Amino acid sequence: MASPRHFLDLDLLKSDELRRILDMGHAYKHPAAGAAAKNQPLAGRTLAMVFEKPSTRTRVSFELAMRQLGGDVVVLSAADSQMGRGEPVADTARVLSRYVDAIMMRTTEKSKLDEMAAYATVPVINGLTNLSHPCQIMADLMTLEEHKGGLNDKVVAWSGDGNNVATSWIHAAARFGFELRVASPEPLQPADELIEWARAQGGKVSVLNDPEAAVRGADCIVTDTWVSMGVEASVNRHNMLAPYRVDERLMAAAKPDAIFMHCLPAKRGEEVSAAVIDGPQSVVWDEAENRLHAQKGILAWCLA
Ligand code: CP
Ligand code: NVA
Repeated sequence: MASPRHFLDLDLLKSDELRRILDMGHAYKHPAAGAAAKNQPLAGRTLAMVFEKPSTRTRVSFELAMRQLGGDVVVLSAADSQMGRGEPVADTARVLSRYVDAIMMRTTEKSKLDEMAAYATVPVINGLTNLSHPCQIMADLMTLEEHKGGLNDKVVAWSGDGNNVATSWIHAAARFGFELRVASPEPLQPADELIEWARAQGGKVSVLNDPEAAVRGADCIVTDTWVSMGVEASVNRHNMLAPYRVDERLMAAAKPDAIFMHCLPAKRGEEVSAAVIDGPQSVVWDEAENRLHAQKGILAWCLA
């Protein structure tokens, strides 16, 4: 039996496959541009969504994406399923595979996603782990393309925690050829091996301490919460990250028409000022909407 088409991380997929998924996302958003959007390619198919962490966007956008493509969903939270009482992920994977056509998992540990994918006989989609968030970055890339055109010659600057979302941006830079500058305090910078991997792939990725240097000439500034799910808040963490807050001064150091992105949820006054996230350069609502369209592309690629 052919192995299922998992969507686990952007570094595991080739550029042309990712391009296809993004193109499908754009076509689903603008049905006139793509005939595929007119039909319901996932009629009769069901997605199970397994959540070990909270979610608003991922849950709602996956559910609506499935329904709008003709399919159905089942939602499980760890707390009210047997997983929460210690049933192995491997057993859960084999059971769910007998009921549904694909599994989306949001988990506390990447190893659990890997176990799900190893034992499932249906496609498994990464809905966020402690280490990455690839579905988010597919929506972000769609948003960047909508506002700025082709990705290849663009400069994206990340300012803040070098977290799971930053990791998927690094994978994307290696796959799509844009320049990515990550500005983070040293203890929170992405792992050296990750940067080495990206560079070995031809990725234009740099890691800096200075957020102003990172955003100079950038087309897009991105940040994320200082306290990801599962991470402990502390005064030290707050103080380390304060210089990386995306405020009007930092936005002004980028290109005058630079856009601001944030995967949300955001904390105004921490990683981003209210004036920036609610200001004219912010495209965060487009970005949130694009989760729906990008995920249609991902679901269609996994299942159709
Ligand atoms: N950006 C994102 O994944 O949001 P949720 O946690 O609400 O799903
Ligand atoms: N880095 C954040 C992203 C939330 C969508 C977290 O992991 O909590």
